[in-house]
Amino acid sequence: MLSKLVAHLHDPPTLRLNTKVKELKALGRPVIHLGSGEPFTPTPPGAITACEELLEHGEVHYTATRGIPELLDAIVRETKIHHGIDITHKNLLVCPGAKNAIVNLFAAIFNHHDEVLIPAPYWVSYPDITRLVGARPVTVPPLRGTFYPDIDALHRAITPQTRGIIVNSPNNPSGAVFPDELLRELVVFAERNDLFLILDDIYHQQIFDDRRQASIFGFTAKPLERSKLVVINGVSKTYGMTGFRIGWLIANSEVSSGASKIAAQTVSCASHLTQLGALGALTGDQAPVTDLRLTLERNRDTLLAELGALSELTLIPPEGTFYAFPDFSAYNESSAQLAEYLLEQALVVTVPGREFGMEGHLRLSFCGDRDELIEGIRRIRWALDPAAPRERECGTEVLRKT
Ligand SMILES: Cc1ncc(COP(=O)(O)O)c(C=O)c1O
Repeated sequence: MLSKLVAHLHDPPTLRLNTKVKELKALGRPVIHLGSGEPFTPTPPGAITACEELLEHGEVHYTATRGIPELLDAIVRETKIHHGIDITHKNLLVCPGAKNAIVNLFAAIFNHHDEVLIPAPYWVSYPDITRLVGARPVTVPPLRGTFYPDIDALHRAITPQTRGIIVNSPNNPSGAVFPDELLRELVVFAERNDLFLILDDIYHQQIFDDRRQASIFGFTAKPLERSKLVVINGVSKTYGMTGFRIGWLIANSEVSSGASKIAAQTVSCASHLTQLGALGALTGDQAPVTDLRLTLERNRDTLLAELGALSELTLIPPEGTFYAFPDFSAYNESSAQLAEYLLEQALVVTVPGREFGMEGHLRLSFCGDRDELIEGIRRIRWALDPAAPRERECGTEVLRKT
């Protein structure tokens, strides 16, 4: 009944797990969600006021496909601050979420059977978005012992069909922040091979230890109009505004116009209401952005301290985002089995590493409540420690290892 395309797509695991957690909570089970992909910070007041003002006038309409001019202006300013380049509205396309921006982009730049390089560990949606537009995802393992792309391995993965590479730094699921030199090498690699280089920059405000990430635009001699560098961003992670569904792409005007054609025939435009919400967030008080980063950084430190007691575990400390990606293979080589075991035994939700292209790892989120994070990791330690007592009191329940 369904298309071949659908048969090749997967349900995003994080959305599936959110539903599972809601079901367990509704049954009163003391489940701990370390699989979440969104910071639970309140919506910035500036975003709420902007939406309220529009609703008061009661005039919520279609907008230009690219986005409302005021939001485009705000993104132009934000791009100047974070990437140091001057862009115009023609270089932008506002979409219902960064995910949708990637879909529109891929549909605009890749043909059937083109190949897209996706260094592991990667965000779960890249391979399926690539398939969605008829292109072929080619996943490439990272540099040994790191979560960074391996430039030599990327060279080896190139074929006459290769057209692009998508990378994400700060990285979901590993929390890695690529060194500036690596970003430079990626730009050189892409330009020498005439590939699109897409940087998913959605966690750019969540880099720890006073570090900053250089802009890829600083590593090319080409003006944006002649460049194949593309940056993806949005308000979901920076402002905890996942439900607003606003993201965007920055590209040369031919590419952004091509992506805009796809958007015009699929969604027409992003929601007028939430575009104003995004504008309110971008132009409002930015203190919550710093507060969130500092909270995440503290949570990262808590997670490292708590995980330290698991002697068999290998962990590269996250440098940004709100994810850690420890290697649990000494406990179980199958990440899906281990995640299932932790859910059943300890009522802790984690995401199997194989979803991100690295078997043996689990993704643990530290964007939620700190006490829950501590309790979640202690439960994992209890479940994995053969010497631990068989029973453990957890809120309203006594968990029993079977
Ligand atoms: C790397 C990465 N890119 C994009 C997205 C999607 O962002 P949005 O909510 O704006 O669609 C996510 C969400 O988890 C992500 O982790």
